[in-house]
Amino acid sequence: MTDDDLLARADAAAGRAYAPYSHFRVGCAVMTRDGRVVEGVNVENAAYPLGVCAERTAFSRAIAEGFRPGDFTVAAITASPCGGCRQWLAEMGVDRVVFRNGGRVVTMTVDELLPEQFEPSVLPE
Ligand code: THU
Repeated sequence: MTDDDLLARADAAAGRAYAPYSHFRVGCAVMTRDGRVVEGVNVENAAYPLGVCAERTAFSRAIAEGFRPGDFTVAAITASPCGGCRQWLAEMGVDRVVFRNGGRVVTMTVDELLPEQFEPSVLPE
């Protein structure tokens, strides 16, 4: 599956977003090293700050299915990932991120998206 195919999966997933407040639907499709695609959408809440981004629902779903950080090659997202989701993408260790931004399709590494990351290695044992 190409990155464009994966982005098409994210586009299709976005149609299933639950975004009654912002009306901004986001989809995320993640490719695993063993060839699975796991999709997520943004899920909003009437208590606005409780809403969850598409990237986080995709990775939460993947983790719940047994995948672990490092198991992911590409994350395709229908929007530019927010700052918090860049931290999630870093934690999950994806090789690259493909996303739509203002009519362009952009491909970046996590290091490019989030330089000088806060990393788990600084935490005490
Ligand atoms: N959103 C995402 O799902 N991912 C991002 O990286 C950017 C923002 C969602 C959150 C909210 O439901 C809507 O877009 C508007 O901010």
